[in-house]
Amino acid sequence: MSRNPLLRLIGSSLALFFIMTAGAQAQTPQEQLGDFLFNDLQLSEPAGQGCVTCHDPGFGFVDPANADPNSLTFLQPVSEGVISGRFGKRNSPSAGYAAFTPLFTLKGGIQGGQFWDGRADDLAEQARGPFLNPDEMANETRKQVIDKIALRPYADLFKLVCGQDAFDPANVDTSYVCMSEAIAAFESTEFFSPFTSKFDAVQAGLASFTPQEDLGRALFSGNAKCGHCHTAKAGGGRPVFFTDFKYHNIGLPANQEIFALRNEIFTDLGLGDPIDGLNDPRQDGRFKNPHLRNIELTPPYMHNGVLKTLKQVVHFYNTRDVLNDLFNNGLPCAEGNLDPGFGTTCWAAPEIPETMDSSFLGDLNLTDAEEDAIVAFMLTFTDGWMAAAP
Ligand code: HEC
Ligand code: HEC
Repeated sequence: MSRNPLLRLIGSSLALFFIMTAGAQAQTPQEQLGDFLFNDLQLSEPAGQGCVTCHDPGFGFVDPANADPNSLTFLQPVSEGVISGRFGKRNSPSAGYAAFTPLFTLKGGIQGGQFWDGRADDLAEQARGPFLNPDEMANETRKQVIDKIALRPYADLFKLVCGQDAFDPANVDTSYVCMSEAIAAFESTEFFSPFTSKFDAVQAGLASFTPQEDLGRALFSGNAKCGHCHTAKAGGGRPVFFTDFKYHNIGLPANQEIFALRNEIFTDLGLGDPIDGLNDPRQDGRFKNPHLRNIELTPPYMHNGVLKTLKQVVHFYNTRDVLNDLFNNGLPCAEGNLDPGFGTTCWAAPEIPETMDSSFLGDLNLTDAEEDAIVAFMLTFTDGWMAAAP
């Protein structure tokens, strides 16, 4: 805080101005602070990247550089960090509705947690990662981040929420945690989880499905078995998120596009990983079952972005084992997922076949029209169909 009283006054009225003009959904000072932090592009090293870069509200809270849902051009399956040429290993999941993911737990079947492998228990723990990840915002220390915040126009708001001595070097760790809690509070506002899809309208008795959507709905929870994992019924006072929040291996092939971007070949063990995961080979290849809200807006799909369209996703579930060279009854996908026949004449072999699920997917015997109906049903999960609840 400036020792000059006039500057101090300007400083606090600036903070007040920001409090009053921050995103309409952020109500409390903590949420408003989270709003500033989430959208700030000055907190990376060098400046230029923020949470919003890879979790853009206009694109279902994912990275618009990965794919444009309108033109269906696929640029890259993983996001580039602020240091150009550095790419992450995984496709950015939506930060929308992430507030509803339960805490990571081993009890009653492994479930919950943030990230594809659940390595962060909750949103606040998650938010402490990207600032220091060399493939993302690339700061070297927590102090570097807090020092940057001290120079931002919302620094006084930060002090209001995190304490008047928040920028004292001795308090770096508590301030860093306070910062992450503010981001989590903002991510828990209605702005991230509006529940305004056609699906919600139908649930509320305000709309009805077309015959094709309704066929998709019946298949989703019936013959196509999606609902076994992507729970489509509300229960225990919880709305529908289309996930059981558990970990499964659905037998995806590796995505060689990522090998090229990172200039390395690796196996992503997911939940079983020795460092980030549970260090248990029985969990290898399992990834968190994501919610499907706004799924239309977030291509490409899966932890490695190997599937590009919803039609391709459904076709994969339908025919994984029929067209798979692992089972020798499809034509081999000689070039893996880069093979020209990928998804039509062949699927490349699963990256980790040992733990993959074969009871609920792989050979569903769905017709082409049935696949289309399931896609049509999933398109009703997109927000903005009706006005947000007041
Ligand atoms: C360079 C792109 C990038 C930036 C910047 C970034 N993220 Fe992410 N985010 C990702 C990727 C990729 C993952 C998945 C990583 C994994 O699972 O290992 C992810 C995961 C998440 C998740 C977990 C969602 C879920 O369902 O598991 C949340 C929430 C999230 N990010 C919020 C944030 C916040 C808050 C910030 C800013 C502090 C941020 N992200 C910055 C790319 C990014
Ligand atoms: C055995 C459980 C299981 C079944 C059955 C299942 N899924 Fe999934 N689904 C998952 C898991 C786990 C993932 C994430 C996999 C990964 O990235 O490694 C996923 C991912 C997806 C995604 C991509 C999500 C994203 O954000 O990228 C879509 C879309 C999807 N499933 C739709 C369906 C449909 C449609 C069906 C039925 C035809 C279905 N699923 C059946 C477990 C299942």
